[in-house]
Amino acid sequence: MKILLIGNGAREHCIAWKISQSPLCSELIVAPGNLGTEEIAENVEISIDDTKKLHEFAISSEFDLVIIGPEAPIEAGLSNLLIDSGIKVFGPTKEAGMLETSKSFAKTLMKKNNIPTAKFEVFTDITDAKNYLDQIEFPLVIKADGLASGKGVVICKDRQQSLNTIEMIMKDKKFGDAGKSIVIEEFLIGQEISVFSFTDGENFSSLVAACDYKKLFDSNLAPNTGGMGAFSPPKSIHWDHNLQKIISESIISPVIQALNEEGNPYKGILYAGLILTKEGPKVLEFNCRFGDPETQVLLPRLETDLLEIILSINAGNLNEIKVEWNDSYSLAVVLASAGYPNVFQTGYEISGFDDLDQNINIFHSGTKRVQGKFVTNGGRVLTLSTISNDLASASSLIYRNIDKVNFEGAYYRHDIGK
Ligand code: AMP
Ligand code: GLY
Repeated sequence: MKILLIGNGAREHCIAWKISQSPLCSELIVAPGNLGTEEIAENVEISIDDTKKLHEFAISSEFDLVIIGPEAPIEAGLSNLLIDSGIKVFGPTKEAGMLETSKSFAKTLMKKNNIPTAKFEVFTDITDAKNYLDQIEFPLVIKADGLASGKGVVICKDRQQSLNTIEMIMKDKKFGDAGKSIVIEEFLIGQEISVFSFTDGENFSSLVAACDYKKLFDSNLAPNTGGMGAFSPPKSIHWDHNLQKIISESIISPVIQALNEEGNPYKGILYAGLILTKEGPKVLEFNCRFGDPETQVLLPRLETDLLEIILSINAGNLNEIKVEWNDSYSLAVVLASAGYPNVFQTGYEISGFDDLDQNINIFHSGTKRVQGKFVTNGGRVLTLSTISNDLASASSLIYRNIDKVNFEGAYYRHDIGK
């Protein structure tokens, strides 16, 4: 197959790494890609936001399959355009993708279908939202309805912080139109996990899970980031058959069924962010894509050919193949620029790629080449990932290697998987 992969993060480098190993892949092109994908595929300079150009390129270059990494092209309806043009696509339609792109859509769907989630209300009026604060307990969570690059969620410990947050989103429009409406919800307590399942709109694969470290500092101290590291399977919880059955039956199956019944079947990978509360697993959010950095720990564990899975999703017969994950422990740590997720400098030379142990994978995100040298070019710069028989050895392998890769201000968490 001739395949077009869309995206430029470490997630897409990892997807490219995985599918380039498949005998079904004859040609792989990445738009726009990064320095990592450049080594295993061909990059083409088209932005993930240029829906029209991506669509035209997919048609004119006669791709057999388009794999969409990030959520923005889903929201822009790229899958719909490709399906209408008869091109196979991995990534749900705009309508099914609203599970991620509109939090109020997702919450309302969950409420209607008794899918366990934090209690909530949706507001489009700023005064109503402020008045609601008189009726509820703190802490609470305020979320911009639309996409906000993972920054549209604020945990508010008291009334004043809640008022400030409502003003920041609805009056000052910090997240633009994404904050036209907001969700105010109950703060959930428990272990957080990211759970994934492939689905063809009706059938879904057995679940796989990872723990993502969202906070910037060791011991989970704020601020929130896109993710500083991850490991899989989630060792600190009982990720056993019973828990997987509960999540499948109370969350994954009903949400897939609900979208199907609405005439918007969800095809792709469904990512559920959950909190394991005392009353059982509850949904924080759904995403319509692979996670980053979760992908960098999940795909090294995937035994089944990812392209075979994607073809089954397109054919609607995912029930006919078995999606298998190996029993190894996979762990990844993100190397970020000093100052991320706020203000940071770029352009620092990166050294040490050649000194890494063989079983370390390095996935690029914020890097570029200047005069033949690798330099930093983003907040999350690189992900180091490895796989081992147990979590402790995966962790020590990464931490033995991570200081070898260096650039000015390189920052990482020291406690991933510990
Ligand atoms: P989201 O983008 O909705 O996943 O929110 C980002 C992060 O905020 C999550 O990964 C959680 O760590 C935290 N969070 C979101 N909603 C809640 C909630 N209702 N209770 C506790 N923590 C939450
Ligand atoms: N790691 C969180 C995400 O990809 O949304």
